[in-house]
Amino acid sequence: MNLFIKNIGQLVTVAAHVKPYKAGTDMRELHVIENGAVLIENGIIRTVGSTAEISPPNNIDVLDADGRIALPGFVDSHTHTVFAGSRENEFAMRAEGKSYQEIATSGGGIISTMTATRAASKKELLHTAERRINEMLRHGTTTVEIKSGYGLNPESEMKMLEVINILRRDSLATIVPTFLGAHAFPPEFKDDKQGYVDLIINRMLPYIGEKQFATFCDVFCDEGYFDLHQTENILLEAKRYGMIPKLHADQLAAIGATKLGAELNAVSVDHLERLTSDGNEALKKSSRHGESSACVATVLPGASFFLNQPYAPARSIIESGIPLAIATDFNPGSAMCFSMPMMMTIACTQMNMTPEEAITAATLNGAAALGLSSEIGSIEIGKQADIVLYNVPNYCFLPYHYALNHVWRIVKNGTVLEF
Ligand code: NIG
Ligand code: FE
Repeated sequence: MNLFIKNIGQLVTVAAHVKPYKAGTDMRELHVIENGAVLIENGIIRTVGSTAEISPPNNIDVLDADGRIALPGFVDSHTHTVFAGSRENEFAMRAEGKSYQEIATSGGGIISTMTATRAASKKELLHTAERRINEMLRHGTTTVEIKSGYGLNPESEMKMLEVINILRRDSLATIVPTFLGAHAFPPEFKDDKQGYVDLIINRMLPYIGEKQFATFCDVFCDEGYFDLHQTENILLEAKRYGMIPKLHADQLAAIGATKLGAELNAVSVDHLERLTSDGNEALKKSSRHGESSACVATVLPGASFFLNQPYAPARSIIESGIPLAIATDFNPGSAMCFSMPMMMTIACTQMNMTPEEAITAATLNGAAALGLSSEIGSIEIGKQADIVLYNVPNYCFLPYHYALNHVWRIVKNGTVLEF
C-alpha cells in the first residue's frame, strides 16, 4: 500500500484541481509530467512530481517504470457485465442486414439474455462476471459500474444485484451497482406495461432501498421501451429510496429522454446517438447550474460501432461546455467489448475527439458520471492510487495502436496487482 513509482516517461495526471470534471477546451489539458514519479501511502496518492524532485522514504517499495507511461485507471461508468449466455447469433444476423430492433421484436435482444440469466445460478453469474472484471483490469480499467436488468422480475433482479454486491465486496476493481429493472418489459407483462412499472415501484425499489443494493437507478427510456411518463415515475420513486437517476437516452429515437434526465438531476444521460438541439440545450443548462450538479453526457462509441448506428455528436457536446464521458456499455447484445482504449480509438476516428479529450472522458469524466471524481479519475494528491502503466512511448500511442493490450502494470489502491 506504500509505493514509490519512478521514472515515468509521461505521467498523465489529468489533474482537475478540485473541479469535479473537465468541460470544453479544458478536456484537452492532461497536465503531463515528463519523467514523473508518484508517492503512495496507505493506498492514497501523497506526492506527484518529477522523479528528480521527490525523495521517497527509506524502505519503501519502488516500481521503476523505466520510461513507460502512466495514466489514471480507466473508469468504465456504463456496463452490463453480469449476464448469462451470449448472442453471437444476432451478430451474424446483423451481418446479413437485420437491425437491432428487428432482432429484438422477433424474440432476440434483451429478452434472450433475460431468459439465460433467469436460468443461471448466482454462482455461475458470479464466476463469469469475475473473469470479465479481471480481464477489464488487465486492460486498464480499475472502476466498473455494473447494471442489473437481465432479470426483469423481482427474484432475478435481486439475484443480479446480490451478485453485483458480492463483486463489489470481493473483486480487485472498484464496482458501482446500478438497478436497471426498467431495461425492457418482460414477456409476462407484454400486455400490461403499467403492471410491470407498478412491480418495479411497489416491490423492487423498496427492497433495493432497504438493502442499499444500488447507488443508481437507470431506465432504458426509448421508443419501444419505457416512455417519458413511466421513466419519470420510476426515477422519482427511486430517488425517494436514495438512488440517483441515470438514463439510457436517445439511443434508438429522440423521445425527450435527455431533457427529462437533466430535469431529474440525473448524474448522467448515456448513449445520445440521436441527441437533439433541445436535449443539448437542457444539458447545457444543467452544467451552468453549478459544477457539482451537472449531468454528464456519457457516449458509448462501442455500441454505435457494433450496431452500425450513428455516433453521438461528441463535438457539439464538448463545444457546448457539457462534460462528456466515454464508457464501453459492455453487454452481450449491443457492445461485446470491454476495452476502454478501443473506445478511445473509436472516439478519435469516428467522433472527431482528440486523444486528450478521449483520455479525459475515459478517466476523470467517467468518475464524475459515477459521482466519484473526488476519489478517483486523476493522479492527484489525496485521491485513491489507481494508476496503470503502459508499454508505449507516449499517451497518444494508446488509441493509435489499437486492438492490442499495452498494459504493463496495474496499481490498484497502491498495490501492484499480480493475477
Ligand atoms: O445499452 N440500450 C439498452 N441496453 C443495452 C443493450 C442491451 C442488450 O442488447 O442486451 C445498451 O445498448
Ligand atoms: Fe447500456
